[in-house]
Amino acid sequence: MTEIVFNAEMAKAYDEKGPRLLVPGYAAFLQAIATLLEADLADDASILVMGAGGGAELMALAPVRAGWRFVGVDPSPDMLGAAQAKLAEAGHAERAALHVGYAADAPEGPFDAATSCLLMPFIPDDGGKLDYLRQVRRRLKPGAPLLMVEGFASREPEAWARYLKLYITHGLLRGAPEAHVNMAAGAQAGLHYVSTARQKELITEAGFASIEPFFQALYIHGWIARA
Ligand SMILES: C[S@@+](CC[C@H](N)C(=O)[O-])C[C@H]1O[C@@H](n2cnc3c(N)ncnc32)[C@H](O)[C@@H]1O
Repeated sequence: MTEIVFNAEMAKAYDEKGPRLLVPGYAAFLQAIATLLEADLADDASILVMGAGGGAELMALAPVRAGWRFVGVDPSPDMLGAAQAKLAEAGHAERAALHVGYAADAPEGPFDAATSCLLMPFIPDDGGKLDYLRQVRRRLKPGAPLLMVEGFASREPEAWARYLKLYITHGLLRGAPEAHVNMAAGAQAGLHYVSTARQKELITEAGFASIEPFFQALYIHGWIARA
């Protein structure tokens, strides 16, 4: 279970100076997800968007096919409120049902695909990550893809220092305000990063049949796992 729930202030900062400036390859991985799902799914597919707060994936996917339907799940009402406002403004609101909660609170589906972007580091690796992946897998049709994108960093001191240096350097080069970059870098210590090897182990243990990489930018990796 996550320990951090994004509040109104964080939801506002998310758009102004959040992942757009702080996450390497953010626009590119959203485009990659849209491309992969466009190539894979039927016109009437239903898609589960985990960590849908802010609305980035919903807004990237909704224009791709008019017949796609979405269920968005996120524990932060403020982040989901931001997603709802964007969907409404773009005329997509009736195609997305948004649920405040966690994976266990998501409708059963089964869904044709799921996305999970930048959220697993919020879940501790104390059984929480495995439970999350199992909850998502059992809501997917057999063979349906889960597209996951997140950062990976080793806690080994030298590797962690290198990660923070890259994180700060990337944010500053993207033009994020220095105080914000330093604050966000400071918050990294409270997240639950694992190695890519550990993540693959968790995906396999959760019962997914296959895992393939589709994206990498610095320490951000994207994988497709099939249920
Ligand atoms: C960094 S934001 C990413 C939002 C969006 N997926 C994106 O890529 O722009 C992390 C989001 O995950 C949500 N979150 C954190 N823990 C979660 C969990 N256990 N299940 C679902 N969502 C979670 C947060 O509330 C927040 O909206």
